[in-house]
Amino acid sequence: MNAEITTPTAELVQHIRATPRGARVARHLAAEQLADWGYPQDGEVSETAQHLVAELAANAVTHGRVPGRAFELRLLLLPEDTLRIEVSDARGDRKLRYVTEPDSESGRGLILVTLLARTWGVAERDVGKTVWAEISLILK
Ligand SMILES: Nc1ncnc2c1ncn2[C@@H]1O[C@H](COP(=O)(O)OP(=O)(O)OP(=O)(O)O)[C@@H](O)[C@H]1O
Ligand SMILES: [Mg+2]
Repeated sequence: MNAEITTPTAELVQHIRATPRGARVARHLAAEQLADWGYPQDGEVSETAQHLVAELAANAVTHGRVPGRAFELRLLLLPEDTLRIEVSDARGDRKLRYVTEPDSESGRGLILVTLLARTWGVAERDVGKTVWAEISLILK
């Protein structure tokens, strides 16, 4: 985790198997945790967060997977009404490719992340990397 981010008021940390099923599990866990924190599953905050978790987790298990290594999902409620989503995978040797190719069948995940998140980025870790995204908890 980045040292510079503000102390969260609540936090979920889960290690999840790096499989397609694990990616779905991540989305489900996020929905459940957010409901616990008062954001209903069919509300705007939860739906946006679920899309983000689904895309980042799908990327972690397809592009960031190291056999036998789990990925990590963190959800952090930050002061100033921000939800921070962090998905960490074990691969440090692959960079994210953020390019738009009109004819490409793939490469939509990070475009969706850019559209949905207020801000997002990638942070290196000792092992692997963390792809993070933040959304506002205040409905527009
Ligand atoms: N966690 C990750 N680890 C390593 N490389 C990644 C990771 N996430 C994304 N990438 C790289 O960035 C590219 C773009 O990611 P993006 O999610 O936009 O597209 P995609 O996963 O290839 O396709 P789609 O999400 O549309 O199914 C990927 O093809 C991959 O090369
Ligand atoms: Mg993707």
